[in-house]
Amino acid sequence: MTTTISNPDIAWADVDLTKLPKLVSKELPGPKSKAMHERAAKLMKGYSGQVKLFPVCFEKGHGVTLTDVDGNVYLDFSSGIYVTTLGHCHPKVSEAVAKYAKTLMNCHDFTTPIKMKLLEKLAAILPGGGELSAMQLYDSGTTAVEAGIRLCRAQTGKFEFLSCYRDFHGKSGHAVSLARMNAANGPGRSPGFYLVPRPDPYRPLWTKADGTIDTDAYIRFYDEFIVEGATGQVAAIVLEPIQGWAGSVFPPDDFFPKLRAWCDKKKIMLFADEVLTSMGRTGKWLAMEHWDTLPDVVTLGKGFGNGFPVTAMVARKEYAEAIEKISASTSYGGNPMACAAALASIEAIEEEGLLENAQRLEKLFEKRLAAMKAEHKIIGDVRVKGCLMGVELVKDRKTKEPFDKAGTLIYQRAFSKGLAWIPAGHILRMSPPIVMNEAVASKCMDIIDESIGEVSRELGY
Ligand SMILES: Cc1ncc(COP(=O)(O)O)c(C=O)c1O
Repeated sequence: MTTTISNPDIAWADVDLTKLPKLVSKELPGPKSKAMHERAAKLMKGYSGQVKLFPVCFEKGHGVTLTDVDGNVYLDFSSGIYVTTLGHCHPKVSEAVAKYAKTLMNCHDFTTPIKMKLLEKLAAILPGGGELSAMQLYDSGTTAVEAGIRLCRAQTGKFEFLSCYRDFHGKSGHAVSLARMNAANGPGRSPGFYLVPRPDPYRPLWTKADGTIDTDAYIRFYDEFIVEGATGQVAAIVLEPIQGWAGSVFPPDDFFPKLRAWCDKKKIMLFADEVLTSMGRTGKWLAMEHWDTLPDVVTLGKGFGNGFPVTAMVARKEYAEAIEKISASTSYGGNPMACAAALASIEAIEEEGLLENAQRLEKLFEKRLAAMKAEHKIIGDVRVKGCLMGVELVKDRKTKEPFDKAGTLIYQRAFSKGLAWIPAGHILRMSPPIVMNEAVASKCMDIIDESIGEVSRELGY
């Protein structure tokens, strides 16, 4: 028996929910997973918490499922790490990559027919009516962010950058300087990089008399900071529209329009790093569309090639001269396989109505997470946009003290029930593929609800 599908266009990703998740090992991870991971871990160092807390060894993926080497089949609520937005091995994307793997794999930054088609398609789908149309293609989110930094410097002749507390922008020298640093990625920020707070409605720094978040106060702070903290050389403010790593933290609705106006007034470029939030993840091509705000520079990655490493840095066409100055030449950026993967992903989103599917799923997730919040005292806050979610766990709703232990235990509990997902301290982060149907989404929510309930009781809540 197959599940009822809400959209026949995504029938390829349909699953038999009576048989899933399918857990055949007595305990998880299973014996083959354990043995293989132990062998690999002798050589591979620095695994993420996602793996360390549940060291399973995956062998294949199809749509919304992942299968491990012991034959256990999991429902995927992570899309890898926000990457396989269209599900694993989307047939259209896989075919496109395979075709170019046999035709033309690399020819530096020469134009190819597939690159031309991708660039034109991208210019057509991005908001702004063709305004966002000066582009370069790269092979990781980090390299696209670096290109954006070079562009902002070339355009303004200034060298300073503002970015935000708890944002994440990648792991190169400048990208780490845009985020929280520690002894391992220090010893200090690159010169000219400064962090400022951004509005988090659940944990506001500045509030109005009625207790709601005061976005104007943040803008006032930036205003003061560019004079007092920086040296009058701020080229751009770089920020994630919705913070991913920090736990799906959404800004208040009035923040980006106000920030846009402030940037215009101060002649500071607005650089939206949409590596994580773009290409359907939140039910729009760009998350910035939720606030009707057009950035000057935007970076795309992760779901852009649905698993194939392809990213882009896109700027407003008025910056075409400056972008010319920063070379687009890289070894892999914009290779034919990459362009084919990205174009096929965009076409699949259009053909299968996946932006609309993500919007439909948002309603289901919203309802289920609100019910969980009403039921479980350890949930302090829930937030959803499209298929990007966060559930913040607290020891006490009044003090909002983060509950990391609960986060870890819930992650492991749900994984052992067959849900592959992402841990993040006290915030449960979720990013299911947008090809999921409502029945599968409900099943995943059941597993999460059950896991939160069990762990809450065990922790005495
Ligand atoms: C917002 C954002 N920017 C940049 C990056 C870096 O991308 P990559 O890991 O592809 O270099 C990430 C990765 O998680 C990200 O979330």
